[in-house]
Amino acid sequence: MARNFKASAMIKYIRALYAQEDEELIKIRQSAPADKQGIQIGAEEGKLIYIMLKLIKAKNILEIGTCVGYSTLWLARSLEAGGKIISIEKSTEHYNIAKSNLKATSEKDKIELINDDASNIEKYVNGIEFDAVFIDADKQGYPVYLDIAYKLLKSGGLIIADNVFLFGAIYDNNINAPQNLKTAIQEFNRKISDPEKFESIIIPTHEGLSITIKK
Ligand SMILES: C[S@@+](CC[C@H](N)C(=O)[O-])C[C@H]1O[C@@H](n2cnc3c(N)ncnc32)[C@H](O)[C@@H]1O
Repeated sequence: MARNFKASAMIKYIRALYAQEDEELIKIRQSAPADKQGIQIGAEEGKLIYIMLKLIKAKNILEIGTCVGYSTLWLARSLEAGGKIISIEKSTEHYNIAKSNLKATSEKDKIELINDDASNIEKYVNGIEFDAVFIDADKQGYPVYLDIAYKLLKSGGLIIADNVFLFGAIYDNNINAPQNLKTAIQEFNRKISDPEKFESIIIPTHEGLSITIKK
């Protein structure tokens, strides 16, 4: 979800019927520092990702960009019995809030949090073959995170990435975004369109949510 995103009547309708937040989710959403409230995924995006992960019966999930654990909880809830999610977050402030938030949830035993730069994730995963990777961290890093996801995913695994419209700047020249971020997201979107390696689509959510199957 984007900063300053105002839920439309359509989104409110969807949330009310299919993606109502319970107390755990509300508490975690509200625990984000004031200037970070809008950077978490929306409840309807959480539910959409949750359903996709249920469909593939995900047992091992990697998340890049925990923030304070809101999306982590949606992902953890989708896991098959015995499943596990590893989530990496660079900011120690966010990591500490996420740790305290998630240890108070019913999913705590399925969640491993790491406080490090996502580009170091391979150090921590001990040969796990992931069923899915959710990318929602710094936009500059997306092409690198895609390469890492490709390496760590099993064939048929899913890569889901948020913000691939970069606030609209990707398809609308009248919307400004820093050129380095634009170049990185353009590269990411181009890479996931490679039919030799992937099958992909972008779901036209407000921010653009890409869905990719590794061939
Ligand atoms: C958009 S927020 C994640 C929101 C979260 N997925 C949610 O929906 O609840 C992006 C997070 O990525 C973190 N981040 C930024 N650069 C990173 C990096 N290089 N490695 C790991 N995390 C990073 C930020 O500190 C921030 O908490």
